[in-house]
Amino acid sequence: MQINIALSGFGHVGRAFAGLLAEKHTDLTRRYGLDMRLVLAANSRGAAHDGGGLDLKFLESLAQGGELADMPGFTEGLTGPEAVALSRASVWVEATPSHAKASFEPGMSNIKKALGDGMHAVTLCKGPLVHNFAEIMGIAQAAGTKVKYSGATAAALPTVDVAVNSLAGSRITSIEGILNGTSNFILTCMEREGLSFAQGLAEAQRRGIAEPEPSLDVEGWDTAYKLLIIANTLFEKTFSLSDMAVEGITRVGAADLKEAGNSGGTLKLVGSAELRKEACVLKTGPKFLPFEHPLAGVSGTTKGIHFVSDTMGPLTVIGGYSNPRGAAAAALKDIISLYML
Ligand SMILES: NC(=O)c1ccc[n+]([C@@H]2O[C@H](COP(=O)([O-])OP(=O)(O)OC[C@H]3O[C@@H](n4cnc5c(N)ncnc54)[C@H](OP(=O)(O)O)[C@@H]3O)[C@@H](O)[C@H]2O)c1
Repeated sequence: MQINIALSGFGHVGRAFAGLLAEKHTDLTRRYGLDMRLVLAANSRGAAHDGGGLDLKFLESLAQGGELADMPGFTEGLTGPEAVALSRASVWVEATPSHAKASFEPGMSNIKKALGDGMHAVTLCKGPLVHNFAEIMGIAQAAGTKVKYSGATAAALPTVDVAVNSLAGSRITSIEGILNGTSNFILTCMEREGLSFAQGLAEAQRRGIAEPEPSLDVEGWDTAYKLLIIANTLFEKTFSLSDMAVEGITRVGAADLKEAGNSGGTLKLVGSAELRKEACVLKTGPKFLPFEHPLAGVSGTTKGIHFVSDTMGPLTVIGGYSNPRGAAAAALKDIISLYML
């Protein structure tokens, strides 16, 4: 089966995604019978388009660096809903910045247009789902299309897929997640080397793990966005950010971590959802985890999620690469599952 894919966003993740399509094209066709072609790739300047499929070898070379504008078929200024309409793709992949706190464009308009035009959407971009989860799902349902978002919910760490597929039929009563690799790396450095928050952040920036502007990660927002999307998927109610207390790790000090250790545990930035009677309490912030807690040993940029359900009990998933290739692979997995499950 031929699957025409359009890709919005050609940064770290977009390039890795294009590279994976090139690298795995033969394998995906052989194993799944899916002949995936990239018919459009867009960045903020414009888009390259070829209805028969862009040159995968050229794309693979671009994945190592180079300008999308050098691609044959690149049109300056072709972005947004105009690019969606032109693509006539089967799947729209959104890999533009998340900006969930400030704005949710261009992702929101692109995804709505793509779903309305009969395409499935796979998004790594959290903003649209954080702000308009119910609206997006409603558009998809009305159009008979699907939305997948592993890349927006901890990417290479499976979260929603585990809960929806592996815990199907169970009632999930609590979720705890270490969902942000950057914050977890900083806390790990602070704990192991007795560093202050500022020193831990500087080390994460020196290693290229933390962004020069790290507030989304260290103030807890990235964790909160992921938790919100997961909760909106799994619980029968639509929550918004205002339903959640959000605190980051900026006020955690080396002394707090030492004290936690002396008390038989550790401090982690945890996004949690707990079902209490009919209400669900959502929270993001530093949390004391006793050493025997399954997430207490999750260190560095590693992420993890712990579910408790009524019929299958506690279940923990830990790992997955916290990098653009892992995120791109999660989007690829979503596309495969659109056609195989
Ligand atoms: N990096 C990761 O490991 C990771 C992991 C999981 C999820 N994510 C999510 O994946 C998304 C992409 O992350 P990234 O690291 O690849 O970001 P990035 O390197 O900043 O790339 C963003 C891309 O979006 C393009 N863009 C910006 N505005 C646009 C517009 N109006 N129309 C079309 N394209 C536009 C940029 O264009 P230019 O190239 O012209 O600037 C760039 O190509 C984000 O939502 C992020 O939260 C990332």
